[in-house]
Amino acid sequence: MRRGILLIIPALLAGCDGRHNWLASAGAEAQRVEELFWVLLLGAAVIWSLVIGAAVYAHRRQVDPSLETQARRFILWGGAVFPTVVVGALLVWGLVILRDITSDEGDLTVRVDGERWWWRVIYETPEGDVVTANEIRLPVDRTALFRLTADDVIHSFWVPALGGKMDMIPGRETTLALTPIQTGNWGGLCAEYCGGAHALMRFDAIVMEQDAFDTWLAAEAEAAQVAGDDRGFEIFQEEGCGACHTIRGTDAQGPVGPDLTHLAAREKLGAGIYDMTPETMARWITDTHEMKPDIDMPPYPDLQGDRLDRLVAFLMSLD
Ligand code: CUA
Repeated sequence: MRRGILLIIPALLAGCDGRHNWLASAGAEAQRVEELFWVLLLGAAVIWSLVIGAAVYAHRRQVDPSLETQARRFILWGGAVFPTVVVGALLVWGLVILRDITSDEGDLTVRVDGERWWWRVIYETPEGDVVTANEIRLPVDRTALFRLTADDVIHSFWVPALGGKMDMIPGRETTLALTPIQTGNWGGLCAEYCGGAHALMRFDAIVMEQDAFDTWLAAEAEAAQVAGDDRGFEIFQEEGCGACHTIRGTDAQGPVGPDLTHLAAREKLGAGIYDMTPETMARWITDTHEMKPDIDMPPYPDLQGDRLDRLVAFLMSLD
């Protein structure tokens, strides 16, 4: 008994940090999975109680040979027919949910590529693709179709409160439909071990009213407003940042790292792990591998003083 309790505690701790709690679903698909879970749990509890009750009863009674036929019948119905029907029904129920959450229809399409260890996010719009990273915004009560793939190793896309998870596999596309029904900032994460910074591969999934979402997406589609003589942007280019990062509207067009066009409009830095502030930004540049071990971006410890301040001010102006 005590061991049982000890096993339950970590499970509860892992699932109870509010926005990552899949038992507090904020999406239509997550709600259906949650329903299935409770039916399974309660059904299992009832059946377990009946089986244990029958075992205790049988243990305490003398065997009565005249009841053998009834006992055989009980075993046939209780041990074969009943489980077959119940498990079969649960299988069908689960398959119907699976079919719906992997459907390839939605009100909007978002492609997400898993990278080591961040998320490339591409909204498909009639005017063309809108590229962003590490933050996914969705309109409430609309079905977002996610088309998922990976660049290097297998990742898994999961927003516990909204639904998932779904593997992201290099060279293959998987789909996941999510319909948020509640506004808020729901945490997302990588649910497949993918290397050194796997535990730090997170993102914000922000659910907004349709109008606010449309305004946000229109702003994301715009190029960055960078003045030609912006000293911070010059430093950005001198340090070679533009070889890896893109800032649309400038000649920084690097395809390797996250798109930075509207970096400062994101709530988090480093793929969902730090608040977006000038202080975290400065540390991200100078102490990159203390902030997030194993990532490809090299640290710039020699960038200090005025030069660092100007670069940070420039990056924080990209909203
Ligand atoms: Cu990506 Cu774990």
